[in-house]
Amino acid sequence: MVHEPDTSVLSVRDLRKSYQLGERSIEVLHGINLDLRRGDLTLLMGPSGSGKTTLLTIMGLLLRPTSGQVLLLGRDVSRLDEWRLPALRRAHIGFIFQGFNLLSALTAVENVEVVLEMQGLRGRAARRRAMELLDSVGLADRWDHLPEALSGGEKQRVGVARALASPAELILADEPTGNLDSKTAAQVVDILRHLAHRENRAVLVVTHDPALRQLADQTIHMRDGLIVEDAKAKPSSELAVPLASAVQRPDPTVPLPVGVLPRAPVDPPYGKLVHHRPRE
Ligand SMILES: Nc1ncnc2c1ncn2[C@@H]1O[C@H](COP(=O)(O)OP(=O)(O)OP(=O)(O)O)[C@@H](O)[C@H]1O
Ligand SMILES: [Mg+2]
Repeated sequence: MVHEPDTSVLSVRDLRKSYQLGERSIEVLHGINLDLRRGDLTLLMGPSGSGKTTLLTIMGLLLRPTSGQVLLLGRDVSRLDEWRLPALRRAHIGFIFQGFNLLSALTAVENVEVVLEMQGLRGRAARRRAMELLDSVGLADRWDHLPEALSGGEKQRVGVARALASPAELILADEPTGNLDSKTAAQVVDILRHLAHRENRAVLVVTHDPALRQLADQTIHMRDGLIVEDAKAKPSSELAVPLASAVQRPDPTVPLPVGVLPRAPVDPPYGKLVHHRPRE
């Protein structure tokens, strides 16, 4: 993939993070340098406790570094006033964090609609688009479920549908396939690849699954708060494990991967369906 010179959506420079535990200060990131470019699917791997979530949370502007720079579209945002950050996050960053980013009082489809509404899409048009996005992650038949009535993997996929609905240039996903069976995991990764390759976004995925390396443009390994390797993905001829057929889409004109789960019939138009009210 050819990149423009200025395609880094988010960069970190000499990033350090210490947590205060009582009297003690414990440094968990020891000077991280990293660039996330448009069009790249980057994997972040490493043992439990190596600092992956801490790094992702700082990159998502949800946590401040102790020192170092966070450059969003070339601008250092690591020292900005707190009140400026939510608008930057909404405009530029999509999160897929397990059990984190769903609004518990809203159904699956409404969780996607709120993202569309922030972009000015309303009413039936928003409902129709939200249903399409849920369908693309295999959840058309779960549209009216509240998060509490979804499995972990289904919640994860609503999170993916929300990321699809957002215009964010940067997508941060913390173990988005952790709860999923291998076929559904391959489908989710395929969608994340789509976001990177077809929509030219920068996508960072934390995973413990080495099989996903084959799908990435860049794989970063962390150990004890440091990046120990930053390698380009191997060419497919070197792959030891064949790719699941579900992740190969030969037709690049297909706009979105289609859900792998059997679809229940859904009555169109979606707008006439009952609108759920938050529960007590
Ligand atoms: N709020 C906190 N206060 C103190 N220490 C913390 C805090 N959050 C994380 N840590 C410590 O920082 C280190 C890195 O944690 P982090 O959650 O970033 O790891 P991780 O690589 O995401 O691990 P996992 O693969 O288990 O999710 C760990 O040693 C953890 O105990
Ligand atoms: Mg983690």
